[in-house]
Amino acid sequence: MPTSKRLNVAVVGATGIVGQEMLKVLAQRGFPAERVLPLASERSKGLTVAYNGSRLSIEPLREDSFKGIDIALFAASSDIALMFAPIAVEAGAIVIDNSSAWRMRPNVPLVVPEVNPDDIAANEGIIANPNCCAIPLTVALNPIHKKVGVERVLVSTYQSASGAGKGLVDELEDQTRAIAAGSEPQANIYPYQLAYNVVPGGWRPEADGYNEEEIKIANETRKIMHLPDLRIAATCVRVPVPIGHGESVFVETHDPLSPEEAREILGSAPGLIVEDDPHAKLYPTPNGVAGKDEVYVGRIRKDPSTARGLAMWVVSDNVRKGAALNAVQIAEKALEKGLVKV
Ligand SMILES: NC(=O)c1ccc[n+]([C@@H]2O[C@H](COP(=O)([O-])OP(=O)(O)OC[C@H]3O[C@@H](n4cnc5c(N)ncnc54)[C@H](OP(=O)(O)O)[C@@H]3O)[C@@H](O)[C@H]2O)c1
Repeated sequence: MPTSKRLNVAVVGATGIVGQEMLKVLAQRGFPAERVLPLASERSKGLTVAYNGSRLSIEPLREDSFKGIDIALFAASSDIALMFAPIAVEAGAIVIDNSSAWRMRPNVPLVVPEVNPDDIAANEGIIANPNCCAIPLTVALNPIHKKVGVERVLVSTYQSASGAGKGLVDELEDQTRAIAAGSEPQANIYPYQLAYNVVPGGWRPEADGYNEEEIKIANETRKIMHLPDLRIAATCVRVPVPIGHGESVFVETHDPLSPEEAREILGSAPGLIVEDDPHAKLYPTPNGVAGKDEVYVGRIRKDPSTARGLAMWVVSDNVRKGAALNAVQIAEKALEKGLVKV
């Protein structure tokens, strides 16, 4: 990492699923941190979190938490990000935020390092980490777009419980245990029982029958790929899987692209692994990619319903590439580009 100074890094929401993964990723990638400060709510005061073989004491998030901090990785709610990101920037930190609070603001870069790393430079202190489905989707679409142009995208998601935070992972486990024990499963966090079920909702409803997750995926994909007029629609579904989001993607391209060519382009693109041999039962699954860094693509085939269409199945670890890893990769890029004030 091209910096002579070791950095002070804060992780806001360090007790959550994404925050804990951030701490793991920082250590695994040898991020040049002098000090890591885990911040959470008052509820977590006195608790510790694991980092690089030791335990760090959680501090409650306060207005003066960012004194001396160079990089603040936010993994808390949008409300917390709206309130505290400007405070962190004012204190001299660069903020990389995982919530959706800042993503669509014109002066905030929304970055997937494999797709639009140069957008980072235009930051005014806050860089946004995209939605956990938009990240793998754009990693997979971008190489196709560069080769033949992407004109239309239809995506259906199969999203794991961890995408909704620690609470739903625990609820899914409790419900699964209850069903196995013959007792009534309780649904408190989510509007429906998730165990033994598939739920086409749970996100805030928006206009025209879509929900906020579906609208985020469409808008964020357009912003990341610099395709403001991209024709794209999403259907989001929650499935009873702990980690790993799947996406069934139909793409219409400007020029024709065969499945063989697509496999070749995607297979050599950064951050992507093609696992595609149905005869050998080779295709990516959430269980298979949990804990992995790359976005996996399989089931690449021609869409026979249109002249220049492909269908594919995209899977990635939503907590890692969909959140924590992508955020740390943004921090690494910011360092590489000399954008962190040290
Ligand atoms: N999970 C994913 O796959 C994913 C992917 C992309 C983006 N995101 C986004 O990342 C963010 C975190 O998600 P998550 O899944 O990690 O949620 P989570 O497991 O529910 O964790 C939430 C974190 O926020 C902290 N927090 C809550 N209220 C706070 C307060 N008043 N002050 C300071 N910290 C507070 C919690 O601390 P306490 O333990 O003290 O309450 C906890 O550390 C969300 O914006 C989410 O939309 C998540």
